[in-house]
Amino acid sequence: MWDATGKSVFKDQRTLSFDYVPEKLMHRDAQMKKLIMLFRPILDSNLAQNAVLMGSVGTGKTATSKRFCMDLKEYGEKRQKAIDWTLVNCRQRNSESSVILQVVNHFQPNFPDRGFSIAEMLRILRKDLEKRKVHLVIVLDEADVLLRKAGSDIIYKLTRFGEEKVDGREFISLILISQKNVMEMLDAASASTFKRTNTIEFGRYTYEELKDIVAQRAGLAFHDGAIGEDAVDIVAEVASEWGDARFAIEVLEKAGMLADEEGAEELSVEHVRGAKAEAYSSVTESKLSPLDKHQKLTLLAIARSSKGKAFVTTRDVEAAYRVACEERGEKARAHTAFWGLMKDLDTLGVVSAKKSGPGISGKTTVIKLLDIPAKVLEQKITQMLNDEE
Ligand SMILES: Nc1ncnc2c1ncn2[C@@H]1O[C@H](COP(=O)(O)OP(=O)(O)OP(=O)(O)O)[C@@H](O)[C@H]1O
Ligand SMILES: [Mg+2]
Repeated sequence: MWDATGKSVFKDQRTLSFDYVPEKLMHRDAQMKKLIMLFRPILDSNLAQNAVLMGSVGTGKTATSKRFCMDLKEYGEKRQKAIDWTLVNCRQRNSESSVILQVVNHFQPNFPDRGFSIAEMLRILRKDLEKRKVHLVIVLDEADVLLRKAGSDIIYKLTRFGEEKVDGREFISLILISQKNVMEMLDAASASTFKRTNTIEFGRYTYEELKDIVAQRAGLAFHDGAIGEDAVDIVAEVASEWGDARFAIEVLEKAGMLADEEGAEELSVEHVRGAKAEAYSSVTESKLSPLDKHQKLTLLAIARSSKGKAFVTTRDVEAAYRVACEERGEKARAHTAFWGLMKDLDTLGVVSAKKSGPGISGKTTVIKLLDIPAKVLEQKITQMLNDEE
């Protein structure tokens, strides 16, 4: 503890934190170029633009949007164009008024958090933008959560609001980020401002791409010689199962911490293995802890019936759910309520439930586990249910 030498493999551990944005995002040139192309009219003619960034977990959507906005702001400054940006996490802010409040707070940090209607807040925001002659890019991260909870009216309000020009200028551009297809969640009026061609896809990273991402981050975070190529490779390999860069970076940080705990001078492959086991459980923990008992039982049923299968059907799951309830002396919910539980899990992004699928006809719903291996999930949920009893 606190030993005097204070030796560490880390040179700068902050570069591994979740909100650190690297100078350059590896293998995201195509997405960056498309963003630049879409948003060029802000610079050239003060016209508002919109984009949707879509892709699965840890594919760099949030990081790319931040890097893009920072670069855009800087580029604007050089050309005497005031451009500013703000990112709202819609998982934390999932009502119209709390989203708009955060945007208002961008210019007025002390703005009171109650007592103003949405229309009033929009008027105030507009005054701020006019006064500063600034074009604001609003990034709605995890936008699907907001759209599901509050509908797409807010998109309409923000884009229309931006369209009322003053001196030929528009004031607000939007970037929507989501793992799911948010275009499907927009009403006709909002969808018309979001062209389909404005969707930018973020694919899962391949093993080779992850190697570059891990090597870049390792170079920033660790002392020279503290991490070898074989350790980089195995981190990338561990994460390539999902193509998830966040998981890779988490494993990297945990491996460094394990190396420090042992007082090792170099990160070994064993540290990476240990880190993987820890990272697995923390990722699942954050997704699963908000679930209530019957949601957990339903998920347990999905995990059990999914082992070794690409997908399962509602019928399989409902049977397994009844068994799971019986085991724990819980009264199983009736069919309709069970349906609701499955929908909840889909909404929370733990599973995907879609009407029919390849090789399946009619109205069957196909349920797939996302991101988490069935066996790991089953163990985790069982442990959580046991802890609750
Ligand atoms: N191409 C990349 N180059 C360097 N680092 C990256 C790259 N893509 C992602 N990262 C890093 O990986 C982590 C996860 O990325 P990010 O948060 O952008 O993912 P996301 O697509 O928003 O995921 P989620 O849907 O779960 O929010 C961040 O630390 C980010 O800096
Ligand atoms: Mg994100």
